[in-house]
Amino acid sequence: MNKIVFPKDFLWGAATSAFQAEGAYNEDGKGLSLADIRSMNINPDEEPTKALANKGDKIADSTVASDHYHHWEEDLALMKECGLKSYRFSIAWTRIFPNGDDEEPNQKGVQFYENIIDRLNEYGIEPIITLYHFDFPAGLQKKYGGFSNRQAIVDFVRYASFLFKHFKGKVRYWLVNNEQNAMIRRDGYLGITETNPLKREQLRHRCNHYMYVACAKAITACHEIDPEAKIAPVMAYAPHFPLTSKPEDVLAARNANDLFFHYMIDVHCRGEYPGYYIKWLKDNDWCPEITEEDSAALKKGKPDFFAFNYYRSNAAEYCPEDVDPELVERLRVDARSRILPGLCRCLQNPLISEDERNKWRSDPIGFHIAFRNVYELCHLPLMICENGYGAPDTLEKEGLIHDSYRIEYLKNHILQMNEAIQEGIPVIGYHAWTFLDVISTSEGFRKRYGFVYVNRDDNGGDLKRYKKDSFYWYQKVIKTHGKSLMD
Ligand code: BG6
Repeated sequence: MNKIVFPKDFLWGAATSAFQAEGAYNEDGKGLSLADIRSMNINPDEEPTKALANKGDKIADSTVASDHYHHWEEDLALMKECGLKSYRFSIAWTRIFPNGDDEEPNQKGVQFYENIIDRLNEYGIEPIITLYHFDFPAGLQKKYGGFSNRQAIVDFVRYASFLFKHFKGKVRYWLVNNEQNAMIRRDGYLGITETNPLKREQLRHRCNHYMYVACAKAITACHEIDPEAKIAPVMAYAPHFPLTSKPEDVLAARNANDLFFHYMIDVHCRGEYPGYYIKWLKDNDWCPEITEEDSAALKKGKPDFFAFNYYRSNAAEYCPEDVDPELVERLRVDARSRILPGLCRCLQNPLISEDERNKWRSDPIGFHIAFRNVYELCHLPLMICENGYGAPDTLEKEGLIHDSYRIEYLKNHILQMNEAIQEGIPVIGYHAWTFLDVISTSEGFRKRYGFVYVNRDDNGGDLKRYKKDSFYWYQKVIKTHGKSLMD
């Protein structure tokens, strides 16, 4: 019999990220980030306003996004009305240091976040802040190649330390980087333009390592500056299940889980790369230089809790060593079908039916399994930073949005989280992605996740906010402390 067991101080929350929500991409001194460049699809060497004018076609891009920069008071009032206990959002590095390494912080950028943090605290909503959500400063990318250069570690820790000092006592939870494991898969997120596959992969793994060192050093800085604050990285997690019970497929699923996800729990929480990961890098000639100082930094900067994002599970099967390299190259970016020759081939789970609306194979039980897997490896309190259902919504004439599909998805997942808590797994918070509609990283405003509808599409809109059915549903879940899930 299912019993609702959420702890008393459970953080019922929702999330957004800076470049997906804020807009005002160049206002009040903000510098350009790689996220802006990707979402606007512009040439980073051209002056942005000119580049946008030249581009001609209109897409839902980060110039406006959900215009949270100008609507933040209204948005926070809606959070209060919904009853949120926590709000997970990110700070844009380029609002604080427009070029990434400026001598002085940009006061207007600092003030923007200070206003939000103060208002959240006033409302009794815990601010949970990500330092880096896919939006590396374009200035540093141009200057020294971003995270492929050790200087990025120094600049990131300086940026993070500034925030720890400035918001000491006001922010109790920090998240270092969002989905490093998703970031390193995508060249545009790392600013990689190298076309030689070997050099490109070497570069990717160097960026990955430097990001781990930067994360560990930021964690250490946080502990030194504000010992009361808690800090963690955020992992993208899609557990992979064996396509069949053939030992080869079981091992393939294990390889996918370990090489895409589980190894990073080791790096963050034990401060060491596991042997299988180093072997994989060496076998492919991808291993970055790992100095003694790096190893010491990794050992020192351990998180206080562990955060992950979950949307769906996946499957994996055995893949021979001599698979066509062109196929490997073609599928390398899509997490749902990538191939590691000799190790695994990922694919969607054929035993889970496809949702007609968004073509997802949603798997709430996979969420339960995810809690077990992650906790078994880190033995730290867990926080969910993203879980949500992306689909187009219809704004009815009366300003209503009937998103029963989103409610169904969230309900089934929260109930599985409740199962994990019943088993004794310490889960401290849950953040639905997203509080208000934001630009999807892949489909602009064609795919929405929010409890609050933002009236804009690829051709613009008046940006008016409308509460969806899911807003009222989540409000009740929070108010009843999860009990309404059993209605
Ligand atoms: C997560 C990211 O991976 O997925 C978010 O942290 C993103 O930034 C979310 O928006 C959903 O993906 P998408 O492509 O539908 O926006």
